[in-house]
Amino acid sequence: MADKKALLSIVDHKGNRERTLELPLYSGTLGPDVIDVHELTANGFFTYDPGFVSTASCESKITYIDGDNGILLHRGYPIEQLAEHSDYLETCYLLLYGDLPSRKEREKFEYTIMRHTMIHEQMRALFAGFRRDAHPMAIMCGVVGALSAFYHDSLDITNEVHREICAYRLISKMPTLAAMAYKYSIGQPFIYPRNDLSYGGNFLHMLFATPCVDYEVKPVLARAMDRIFLLHADHEQNASTSTVRLAGSSGANPFACIAAGIAALWGPAHGGANEAVLVMLNEIGDEANIDEFIARAKDKDDPFRLMGFGHRVYKNLDPRAKVMKQTCDEVLTELGLEDDPLFRIAKRLEKIALEDEYFIQKKLYPNVDFYSGIILKAMGIPTEMFTVIFATGRTPGWIAHWHEMISGNYRIGRPRQLYTGETKRDYIPLTERN
Ligand code: SDX
Repeated sequence: MADKKALLSIVDHKGNRERTLELPLYSGTLGPDVIDVHELTANGFFTYDPGFVSTASCESKITYIDGDNGILLHRGYPIEQLAEHSDYLETCYLLLYGDLPSRKEREKFEYTIMRHTMIHEQMRALFAGFRRDAHPMAIMCGVVGALSAFYHDSLDITNEVHREICAYRLISKMPTLAAMAYKYSIGQPFIYPRNDLSYGGNFLHMLFATPCVDYEVKPVLARAMDRIFLLHADHEQNASTSTVRLAGSSGANPFACIAAGIAALWGPAHGGANEAVLVMLNEIGDEANIDEFIARAKDKDDPFRLMGFGHRVYKNLDPRAKVMKQTCDEVLTELGLEDDPLFRIAKRLEKIALEDEYFIQKKLYPNVDFYSGIILKAMGIPTEMFTVIFATGRTPGWIAHWHEMISGNYRIGRPRQLYTGETKRDYIPLTERN
């Protein structure tokens, strides 16, 4: 596979060349070439790349991102086209199997997913162990990992059928668990899933129906929910997906790996940003305060960052943010909230930031999290549930990457380090210490 080579010359502090290493260079179908650095260890070197800014951790065929040009492809299909013409379950199928399904494949996949949405009845008792005011993400970390205690009949990761059953169970049951986490936090009874509703509609029904009065799912909100799930479905080797791959590389079962991914997603620098955007917009409170917050975001001595802005890979507008903003317009119009003050602040904040030299120079654009929270809030979903919805949407991506790794040749992930600690020293008995 190596068609080119990289020459690495090691020179001493006087510039005298000590030696030259030849490293294989591989080309993918899209994106930068990669330098295979395996041989460095045998030559006494490690690479050093905190935050993995320049590190390709694996080979993958699932998603491609071109950050400079704001391009996102799932199995080659642009996210804008999937958002306009496809739906979430079809995108799940695409991520898992690599191609768009035929009509029959799509019907079978949708039928199967929508008929595995119930969880083991005994799992309901797990929720009772949490305080009512537990953050729903804390509950999700617990109950998703606990799936491996209930579905141990399909945990042989070397068995292709088991891997597929786990993928289906996770995609089917995440909305049910997410809705249960919400219902538990507001002290309302759990609502069972309904097979007759769409994936997004069923989720909204489980969130908002009660035994006393039914909840009629508005088609535009069901479509918006489906669109939000779709826009979050996968995103290459982001922090949570890399966590799932690393957990999976030890042979851990897929439910435990997805629970690890949920934990990594929770951070405000990652999936927790959608919740943090709403907190920030509420803190800004009025368009008159925007300049103050922009100044704080630019102040090196102020830890405040403009949540929903910036991205490790996108140095252009996140293509998902563009679609999310359109969806935001649709939902707010449908709900008669065109003048939603938070949306007004968000649009003004985006305009000011995109014209500000600091943001232009650092190539900071709105990302997927900037508008999603406004839609979810308008739909009546509480801020604490935003990252739970992100995790639900991201499940097919996590499981597709896990499956791609486990079904191929892989090794346990075990990075090394640059050690700058103490050199060897002898123990000092307590009697001889000060
Ligand atoms: C997601 O990886 C993925 O694909 C993630 C994701 C996915 O789908 O899985 O796309 C989902 O996580 C989106 C990102 C959500 N996070 C936020 O919106 C939080 C706010 N953004 C930042 O914290 C930050 O932009 C990150 C974490 C997203 C990216 O961080 P990097 O790549 O490590 O960049 P950096 O922190 O080194 O920032 C580069 C410079 C710094 O200034 P200097 O030190 O060079 O002077 O830009 C500045 C930063 O201070 N900067 C910001 C900023 N983001 C970066 N300044 C103000 N506000 C911001 N939001």
